[in-house]
Amino acid sequence: MAKNILIKNGFVIDPANKINQKANVYIVDGKIAEVGKIEPKADMVIDAAGKYVLPGLIDIHVHFREPGDEEEETIASGSAAAVAGGFTSVVCMPNTEPAIDDATSVEYIHRMGRQARKTHVYVMGAITKGRAGEQLSEMGFMAQAGAVGFTDDGSGVQNVSVMLRALKYSSMFKNIVISQHCQDNSLAGSGVMNAGFNSTVLGIPGIDPLAEEMMLWRDIQLVRKTNMRYHVQHVSTAKSVELIRQAKKDCLPITCEAAPHHLLLTDDACCDYDTNYKVNPPLRTEKDIEAIKQAIKDGTIDALASDHAPHLKSEKELEFLAAPFGIASLECALGLYIKALIEPKIIDWPQLVSIMAEKPAKIISVDKGTLGKGKQADITIINPNYEYTVDVNKFRSKSKNCPYNGDKLKGKVEYTIVGGEIRYSAFATV
Ligand code: DOR
Ligand code: ZN
Repeated sequence: MAKNILIKNGFVIDPANKINQKANVYIVDGKIAEVGKIEPKADMVIDAAGKYVLPGLIDIHVHFREPGDEEEETIASGSAAAVAGGFTSVVCMPNTEPAIDDATSVEYIHRMGRQARKTHVYVMGAITKGRAGEQLSEMGFMAQAGAVGFTDDGSGVQNVSVMLRALKYSSMFKNIVISQHCQDNSLAGSGVMNAGFNSTVLGIPGIDPLAEEMMLWRDIQLVRKTNMRYHVQHVSTAKSVELIRQAKKDCLPITCEAAPHHLLLTDDACCDYDTNYKVNPPLRTEKDIEAIKQAIKDGTIDALASDHAPHLKSEKELEFLAAPFGIASLECALGLYIKALIEPKIIDWPQLVSIMAEKPAKIISVDKGTLGKGKQADITIINPNYEYTVDVNKFRSKSKNCPYNGDKLKGKVEYTIVGGEIRYSAFATV
């Protein structure tokens, strides 16, 4: 491993330090030594002329299926996919089988992440034991073991008093966020796509947008009462965005994230019964997409996350009603965001980097997301204009359930550097 690396001639975008210009980045002993017009001697030089040099991207919502469903994804395969996608940190969701609901499981995920030696692997623990929604899990032990938050993702906590207790209990731990997959099961029922015109025509049971909005509205009241930090996962409806915007105006400690499919796809995509478009929360409508994009532009949405949800081909080949929810998108998420947000000029590059690195780091309370002097050298170098075709057969992920296969996207990841080590290079096998 090179002790010192000089990244030369790149265009550095580091919104936290208000840098948006050509500069060199010098890495010493795994840390950022300096960013600027410097040209020190280095063991290794990367010529980044024409490339963007960014703080390592952080994906706060991925599903690596370990433990339990290793044929779909392992921490190792998911981590390899992460660095290929430019992510230097990821946060694993706890909806594995068994669920990640105790300290031993949290430690296991960390250990496997370290062994994989690709991306930093963080984890959110389950709010309730077995994600059953009844008894609080051992949140204290998990927090001690380094969990960065709690969620029952895959489903929301249905019982209001359990959720209230979780929020109150979380006040015991520093730097922990309670996250919610907002969906009221009694409203969502057996729905498998957005409830609307398309679901009616297809005769497929729908999930009403209200299922998300009701739980979100409920939780906002709980946050009002407790003033505890709360994060909304994969916001999918216009009304949800409005509720969050208002909650922020009311100075409540609420953050939220959006996923690429809720920016690019509507429920029209389900009309061919292609299960690669079956995802939860479901694909909504043009109006919802517009609202989410506006909320990204005005800062209501704090972070972008892939919600990478790998599944077996044999399961995705089931009929629409029976197939599992989820899209595998870790390796093309950056390109998808460029397509949805940069190309139509909804936001600019510093804003994109802020919501893919700086702000996600704050949500999970890790000292990352910037190229500040002395910070760990987590860096993503991309060629912003290089066009490529998404090819699921080239994915490092074990799963190929990606509806963007064959699409042309821009923004090729050239290097992913984690703690000063090149963990992915588009030019060599690392
Ligand atoms: O589409 C989804 N897939 N939504 C979820 O909430 C869970 C996830 C998964 O684990 O596959
Ligand atoms: Zn979810």
